[in-house]
Amino acid sequence: MQNSVPVIAIDGPSASGKGTVAGRVADRLGFHYLDSGALYRLVALVAARQSVSFEDESGLTRIARLLDVRFAADQVWLSGERVSDAMRAESVSQGASLVARFAEVRMALQDRLRAFRQGPGLVADGRDMGSVVFPDAQLKIFLTASPEARANRRYKQLIEKGMDAKLDVLLDELRQRDMRDSTRAVAPLVQQSDAVLLDTSHMDIEQAVSFVLSQWQAKAVLE
Ligand code: CDP
Repeated sequence: MQNSVPVIAIDGPSASGKGTVAGRVADRLGFHYLDSGALYRLVALVAARQSVSFEDESGLTRIARLLDVRFAADQVWLSGERVSDAMRAESVSQGASLVARFAEVRMALQDRLRAFRQGPGLVADGRDMGSVVFPDAQLKIFLTASPEARANRRYKQLIEKGMDAKLDVLLDELRQRDMRDSTRAVAPLVQQSDAVLLDTSHMDIEQAVSFVLSQWQAKAVLE
């Protein structure tokens, strides 16, 4: 059955700024916001805590099915524990892209992801929002930036938070994750033919937000 609740799907590589852009677009439009990567991060976080290997597809799938997660007021809660910071650790980022390779893990999360499609609308960010989860999204954006621009952004974020960071290490990790995410067999990160390319290498967040909003308004005028 066709779902008429509008969706804006924003896919792209890590540290492209898509989370911030998607969140602000959702705020401006009064839409819900889905950070789909959070679910892959939580599977990795629980797996690490329970010593389940990132190679164990059925163990990871069990974790994905049982995740007790709640998103509330910009915070993420896992079985009642606030994990918003813990799930952003670099080890969890790498773990997320390892667990995300498995078809069964992805299937186990799919219904949860689709359940976020609620009126008046949804802005969803990730890798396969426009290709697999919401293929009928009214607007699809492929948001990217050069690896150097993305590594620089992540470096600044970490330094601002008072955390230790090395630019060359970040660039290396980001390239590894890009490679894994875009070459995997299941739901790889690729620009869809019906997605609009948004390269933010030389743009700030507000310019990117304006671009997405103008694409959305253009759609509304045409329909
Ligand atoms: O914030 P950042 O872009 O660094 O990562 P994220 O969106 O939180 O996603 C973490 C990892 O989850 C990615 O590297 C992907 O491997 C995986 N992921 C995915 O496979 N599909 C999605 N829809 C979202 C994330």
